[in-house]
Amino acid sequence: MKALYFATNNPHKVQEIQSILGDEFEIKTLNDLACEEDIPETGTTFEENAKQKTDFIVERYDVSCFADDSGLEVEALNLEPGVYSARYSGSRNMDENIDFLLERLAGVEDRTARFKTVISLYLDGKQYFFEGSISGRIIDQRRGEKGFGYDPIFIPEGYAETFAEMSINKKNTISHRAIAVKKLADFLLKTDESI
Ligand code: IMP
Repeated sequence: MKALYFATNNPHKVQEIQSILGDEFEIKTLNDLACEEDIPETGTTFEENAKQKTDFIVERYDVSCFADDSGLEVEALNLEPGVYSARYSGSRNMDENIDFLLERLAGVEDRTARFKTVISLYLDGKQYFFEGSISGRIIDQRRGEKGFGYDPIFIPEGYAETFAEMSINKKNTISHRAIAVKKLADFLLKTDESI
């Protein structure tokens, strides 16, 4: 089994990607590297942030690794909150972030939005990117209890439920992250390069 480091300590993300990759790869995390430092995320794009995370790990530990960065882009808000999704209102409290977003969209007719994920992979000295996105719209009141982040106010295109009303399994088959992770997994499983 080949080991690959994922620059995260989020067990849900690790579980999701491990289940897609199967037995061929063993996903290791920052814990396995005993990395307790906060990895900076100061980029202005998802690509920059994801790459910043893999660069950080490569510089310190010299291992093949990948990292992701995600967020919500709202058309009528010039693609905000984007890389600032986790702290759009200035706080990390998601209730406050949702309220802030809804206030900014009050009276706005165009509710088009998308979730986007970019994965940066650094493998044997080469840099790769994988992207996933899902389009939908922002509703004006929260619906549903599942999921996290902006899930209660996002309805994916072609569906009637918000991400927060969907089962986790269903969300995990159509989400931006699932699409990007699937591309990463397809690449890893077909690549001949040894890790
Ligand atoms: P991360 O880069 O995956 O940690 O995502 C950054 C922020 O984007 C999160 O804190 C959420 O606010 C938002 N976000 C990313 N993915 C999702 C999702 O699937 N549902 C809801 N919010 C999300």
